[in-house]
Amino acid sequence: MRTHYCGSVNRTHLDQTISLCGWAHRRRDHGGVIFIDLRDREGMVQVVCDPDRADTFRIAEDVRSEFVLRITGRVRARPEGTANPGLASGEIEVLALEMEVLNASATPPFQLDDENLSENVRLTHRYLDLRRPVMQNNMRLRYRVAKTLRDYLDANGFMEIETPMLTRSTPEGARDYLVPSRVHAGMFYALPQSPQLFKQLLMVSGFDRYFQITKCFRDEDLRADRQPEFTQVDIETSFMSEEEIMNLMEAMIREMFKKVMGVDLPDPFPRMPYSEAMNRYGSDKPDMRVALQLVELTDLMQSVDFKVFRGAADMQGGRVAAMKVPGGAELSRKEIDDYTDFVKIYGAKGLAYIKVNDVTQLNETGLQSPIVKFLPEAALAEIIARTGAGNGDLIFFGADKASIVNDALGALRSRVGHEKGHAVNEWKPLWVVDFPMFEYNEGEQRWDALHHPFTAPKPGHEALLESNPGAALSRAYDMVLNGWEVGGGSVRIHQQAVQEIVFRALGISPEEAREKFGFLLDALQFGAPPHGGLAFGLDRLVALMAGAESIRDVIAFPKTQRANDLMTQAPNAVDERQLRELHVRLRNVEAAKA
Ligand code: AMO
Ligand code: AMP
Repeated sequence: MRTHYCGSVNRTHLDQTISLCGWAHRRRDHGGVIFIDLRDREGMVQVVCDPDRADTFRIAEDVRSEFVLRITGRVRARPEGTANPGLASGEIEVLALEMEVLNASATPPFQLDDENLSENVRLTHRYLDLRRPVMQNNMRLRYRVAKTLRDYLDANGFMEIETPMLTRSTPEGARDYLVPSRVHAGMFYALPQSPQLFKQLLMVSGFDRYFQITKCFRDEDLRADRQPEFTQVDIETSFMSEEEIMNLMEAMIREMFKKVMGVDLPDPFPRMPYSEAMNRYGSDKPDMRVALQLVELTDLMQSVDFKVFRGAADMQGGRVAAMKVPGGAELSRKEIDDYTDFVKIYGAKGLAYIKVNDVTQLNETGLQSPIVKFLPEAALAEIIARTGAGNGDLIFFGADKASIVNDALGALRSRVGHEKGHAVNEWKPLWVVDFPMFEYNEGEQRWDALHHPFTAPKPGHEALLESNPGAALSRAYDMVLNGWEVGGGSVRIHQQAVQEIVFRALGISPEEAREKFGFLLDALQFGAPPHGGLAFGLDRLVALMAGAESIRDVIAFPKTQRANDLMTQAPNAVDERQLRELHVRLRNVEAAKA
């Protein structure tokens, strides 16, 4: 039907007669001459319809936005002064000789080049939203990223193997999506939260290097960087240390950035222990573009009277920390109030601050602050010394349980850093290593696996698993890029005895372990090799590279924050017969909806 893509016509085609197919992006009537911007996946070209050609002209008069057209015409240079440098085809236009409407279009619910579309409108008519050049570019980028990673893995001896979608629950920390079984009344499959156990079993089977670009399903609270179904580049290897795995994986990401974006990432990626990430950045995925850092004050505040700080400093698991903002003394009352509201989202009860006007006067004259009157001069001097604050700077404080201080000041650090010019515009990858094995779950009064229960302890930390679970470190690693966790993995437990100890430390009884993971424990008995791997979040990698705010912008058909598909209207009610076949009876549905 066509000889060329619209977006690829240029000067080299001058005087040729070509055929194009595409959508009428815009039609402009210029008193006698009609211009149609014809669009296809490669871009746009200007088509000119002259009244001299009456047949073509009559068709063009009826063309509206998003009509599908086939045009045969002659390529000619645009008249002097009308070239459009913003368009690959901007120097030429196509004089229409023949035109055919392949399909009309109803008036679209939105203008494709409207910059301020609501996301709900876009998602409801996603097939139209995806026509927009920015979305076409995002999907193309996604494909190139996946292709480049796949090529790298193939070149390095990895084999793609599919694992089941209908399976048993794998504990990755989220709720499962369940699928009722028709043949087994009252039984359910779980959709995989990740292929974790299957990939480990593939190592037991001797495949040595496995990968899979695959969907994972997690029923969790959604955010900009989380979807209920998302895509992992999932990887597992045998006989490699964490050092070797990390080197191979960062080389893959480096090559991908180079090939897809022409960007040189650092070689090697910096590494940081988890404890340092939390202490200095308040986050296990610190945005290394931001220069601001947290400073420890807990020890110092154990000897002051100011209740807010002293209380947190004396508390088991409490923390008092400060963050200097250079030049921050210029922040307005309103800005500080906004930041105070912001940290409250993370559970902080307030946001104390000191504006440093004159460091030589450690009192209410030199230091402007609601808390200076509560702090002795010696403590103020030490705060100034530890933060390195000078005249014109501001110091923020957090005092609470360490997790709240870290979340609040960690998030504030990123926000203030980017808003107030304390961030560089670069790619800043990082490996976070030396994660604890476990974290304490206050609500449930038990230890949870920080990564997952199949992660191996660091050599020498086996004895701590039960004697001091909070102190045991693991062989896990996360890849962080500009404040996003883009990937994570670990060296696994390959010995049944160690796996049993970890289950025990997690409060999983031998019976429960057998019931849920018996197949894994069995497999570990039959010559399981040392193995490890990781998984990248493809959606997150692509969103970062595209400069998108949300991973929804790099997924063709994503779900909303409430896990709805606005286009197909999933999830939806099903009829009684289908439920009966599945042995499912609904209960209290009206109450649940309310
Ligand atoms: P983890 O749970 O850390 O590890 O997941 C790996 C990566 O997947 C991405 N990711 C998500 N992306 C979008 N939406 C979500 N809801 C979501 N959840 C996770 C993140 C994350 O770094 N089986 C282990 C990997 C391993 O140990 O090899 C696992 O799934 O980028
Ligand atoms: P208050 O004594 O509650 O009026 O608090 C005095 C100052 O300390 C105010 O600026 C509060 O915003 C701040 N503040 C209160 N609680 C905390 C906290 N847990 N962490 C940091 N600052 C706090």
